[in-house]
Amino acid sequence: MTKRVAILISGGGSNMVTLVDSMVGDHPARPVLVASNDPNAGGLAKAAERGIPTAAVDHKPFGKDRAAFEAELLKHIEAAEPDILCLAGFMRILTPDFIARFEGRMLNIHPSLLPKYKGLHTHARALEAGDSEAGCSVHEVTAELDDGPILGQARVPILDGDDPDTLAQRVLRQEHLLYPQVLRRFASGNRDILHLT
Ligand code: GRF
Repeated sequence: MTKRVAILISGGGSNMVTLVDSMVGDHPARPVLVASNDPNAGGLAKAAERGIPTAAVDHKPFGKDRAAFEAELLKHIEAAEPDILCLAGFMRILTPDFIARFEGRMLNIHPSLLPKYKGLHTHARALEAGDSEAGCSVHEVTAELDDGPILGQARVPILDGDDPDTLAQRVLRQEHLLYPQVLRRFASGNRDILHLT
């Protein structure tokens, strides 16, 4: 049975595009929705160009009421009946209630070698720490931020002269390779960790 995949984004959606473009041919899944908490997210247009249904629920009018924002977002998600939810540059922290609905079938890409540097500013923190390598991780989403079981990782060297932007670009290229491969495995029932580099 082909798995139905909904993707949540907040920005340009480069990871979303690599996921959508990978779900062709004998891939065990198909994209059914791309949704965003920002109606102006650049990724929405890219999804529409690819014929994927889109939805946007602006989180700002809801202020600190995450549950109310999520209730509105869930209307679109549940209408799409996804088997798998992929967070791809989705920058809102989800409530434990929301996560519980999709536990075991929700993935996220994070731009660090988890468990190192959970949260934000991962590249600046790796540089400040004097690390020799950085990378990205795909993990299952659980109630603890950036803490769920890791399904894949890719490493990149930190080079002399790197700043957070140059490092972010190098890591993003690996994100675009890692996430589609992990999704394909996950949709086939394979939860073993994939190490790309
Ligand atoms: C990526 O680096 C992702 O790891 C992080 O946000 C960035 C989003 O990029 N969470 P995009 O929107 O997929 O281009």
